[in-house]
Amino acid sequence: MQLQQSISLKPYNTFGINVLAKYFASFFTVDELSELLNNSKLQTTNSQLILGGGSNILFTQNFDGFVLKNELKGISLVDEDADYYYVKAAAGEVWHQFVQHCIANNYAGIENLSLIPGNVGASPMQNIGAYGVEIKDIFFCLEAYHIHEQKTITFSLQDCQFGYRESVFKQQYKGQFVILSVTYKLRKRPVFNTSYGAINAELEKMGVTDLSIQAISQAIIHIRSSKLPDPKKIGNAGSFFKNPQISKFRLHVMKEDCEKILAYPVDDKHYKIAAGWLIEQCGWKGFRKGDAGCNPLQALVLVNYGNATGKEIFDLSTEIIQSVEAKFGITLEREVNIM
Ligand code: FAD
Ligand code: EPU
Repeated sequence: MQLQQSISLKPYNTFGINVLAKYFASFFTVDELSELLNNSKLQTTNSQLILGGGSNILFTQNFDGFVLKNELKGISLVDEDADYYYVKAAAGEVWHQFVQHCIANNYAGIENLSLIPGNVGASPMQNIGAYGVEIKDIFFCLEAYHIHEQKTITFSLQDCQFGYRESVFKQQYKGQFVILSVTYKLRKRPVFNTSYGAINAELEKMGVTDLSIQAISQAIIHIRSSKLPDPKKIGNAGSFFKNPQISKFRLHVMKEDCEKILAYPVDDKHYKIAAGWLIEQCGWKGFRKGDAGCNPLQALVLVNYGNATGKEIFDLSTEIIQSVEAKFGITLEREVNIM
């Protein structure tokens, strides 16, 4: 645990934005976290950011506070019953490595979430989701450290109030907790989920005849790699905006002007609109201004081709929001955490 001053956050965010943190320290144990939270420098800045893999953050300015990098490690099978394994992972474990560990041990249900960047600790923050599965579907409980009360509290599935890219930690408990570990409830007998998008077509292309969680994971890795830029090569934070939700009635009205609009039912009365499609229709796909751009393969992803500033990416996102609003009357909401 070493306290550093005025360090660049460029290696610590997948957008590759070069800003400075006033103070930076990694913690490897809960005692170290507690010690850092009691550090007099933190008390004076009174502003801290808990950082995982930095894959869902856009820094638009220097961070005039204390960055605490979570390096808590460990994976263990804590319990099992007739149907489930209960697997606990420390918050600093890399998400995809944890998924691979589960797949290797035949812990099923997590395979559709393969190759999502970031760490375990952030997975409940926005209830990460992909290819028909969200964290809430495999979540059992989590332990989190209350920053001011300095005690560990356990949250159940209900306590977390998960929604689409939402949880209690992004709402009323924002900035109050450090997630220490998450326990997932994974199936002993897999229930394959291949209905989303191109999974079945990809499995067929791979020549898979015997379906398995390994094969699904591979198919999803192929699909994701074909359209999402690798942050090691091109800076990005995945989808920059959420897919907006509208009422069935509003969709009906919109279809009168725009028959081809891409919408998916959420429930009896609501539809989710593909924001990537809206952005593409406004002509942004492949757009580039300086080093800030809109991914040519998936318009929902904004990219940094090298030396874009966070403000340039943010300003581009504002222009996109305005043009989608003007053309479709829908206001896109940013999904990435803006700092
Ligand atoms: P960070 O970016 O480090 O942090 C995100 C937020 O969580 C910050 O507010 C931070 O303060 C907070 N936080 C992080 N760890 C903790 C902790 N232990 N305790 C308290 N607060 C914490 N997301 C999806 O949902 N689905 C996808 O399919 C998907 N695909 C992606 C593809 C690419 C190429 C990229 C770059 C990103 C993608 N994402 C996706 C977004 C991102 O991977 C997830 O949001 C991921 O969970 C972020 O993890 P992280 O550790 O990098 O979080
Ligand atoms: N589409 C377009 N043009 C585009 C992009 C998409 O027409 O430029 C269309 C696609 O052809 C498809 C539909 O929009 O018919 C949906 O696209 P896709 O399957 O790529 O998914 P998405 O809705 O754009 C969401 C998540 C992703 C997640 C995928 C797969 C959000 C905000 N994004 O993207 O999550 O991986 O589904 O489940 O919900 C992330 O959060 O960072 C992320 C990448």
